[in-house]
Amino acid sequence: MNIDTIGIVGSGLMGSGIAQVCAAAGLEVVLNDIDEAAIQRGLSTISESLTRMVTKEKIAAETAARIRARIRGGTEFGDLGQADFLIEAATERLETKQKIIQALDAVAKPGSIIATNTSSVSITKLAACLASPERLVGMHFFNPVPVMALVEVIRGIQTSDATFEATRALAARIGKTAIGARNAPGFVVNRILVPMINEAVFVLQEGLASAEEIDAGMKLGANHPLGPLALADLIGLDTLLSVMEVFYRDFNDSKYRPAPLLREMVDAGRYGRKSGRGFYQY
Ligand SMILES: NC(=O)c1ccc[n+]([C@@H]2O[C@H](COP(=O)([O-])OP(=O)(O)OC[C@H]3O[C@@H](n4cnc5c(N)ncnc54)[C@H](O)[C@@H]3O)[C@@H](O)[C@H]2O)c1
Repeated sequence: MNIDTIGIVGSGLMGSGIAQVCAAAGLEVVLNDIDEAAIQRGLSTISESLTRMVTKEKIAAETAARIRARIRGGTEFGDLGQADFLIEAATERLETKQKIIQALDAVAKPGSIIATNTSSVSITKLAACLASPERLVGMHFFNPVPVMALVEVIRGIQTSDATFEATRALAARIGKTAIGARNAPGFVVNRILVPMINEAVFVLQEGLASAEEIDAGMKLGANHPLGPLALADLIGLDTLLSVMEVFYRDFNDSKYRPAPLLREMVDAGRYGRKSGRGFYQY
């Protein structure tokens, strides 16, 4: 299938980043949101990011202008019908996503693919609400999208080989490295990363070492660029707790028990960088 235009639903943190990388790869982008203010914020974020790249002499000013001109933002859902490939990047709520992908299924061109950037909703479960479930695939980007090289391409049990391969090819076309995986909570990266961070919180809670020592240990002994507790503060302790709760519930396995200290920090409003205090003070 020829892919010239990408439709993106949700112009928040992730949707705007995805729009930018698609436009930078020469694709036309229709960026949709229910909230007009969110579209304006998304477009401003993209413009600011492109301006920074010009300042750093990574791209020419004319290139930045061409990239920006390829992105059209709007609240008109019907405009997404022009797209050859659709990416849902709206708020992380099952009902919101089900409604959006059903509406996309109705307006999308026959044979076009619907990808979802969900972090925690089952691709199989989402596909089940479509008339053509084989066209749904997970396309999990990492934040910040213009910087992070990875995309996880996730297949639900209904996802067709053609859908899966076309999505991997699109990821490569927009300059990302794709890894393929079957659907399961947390996919690959978060399944490994989040329990590791949770274990670091257990180590801290048990008083085995200080936060600084735990982070130094993993930086110097495991070559991690950032220690697990500093990374926890960056991701947000509330987000990490909700991911662990999903793992604990969905795998029904006690090995995913959230560290009690993680829950207590969240109860105290110590979410990390965004609240000014987590395992470290900001
Ligand atoms: N933030 C991350 O680090 C990260 C990483 C990977 C994946 N994700 C996933 O990406 C998705 C988006 O996350 P985000 O961080 O960009 O959230 P965000 O809150 O920044 O943006 C979500 C946007 O969706 C819009 N929206 C809500 N309902 C809508 C609807 N019915 N139609 C159109 N737009 C609608 C909101 O107005 C908002 O602008 C989520 O599924 C999230 O789990 C996030």
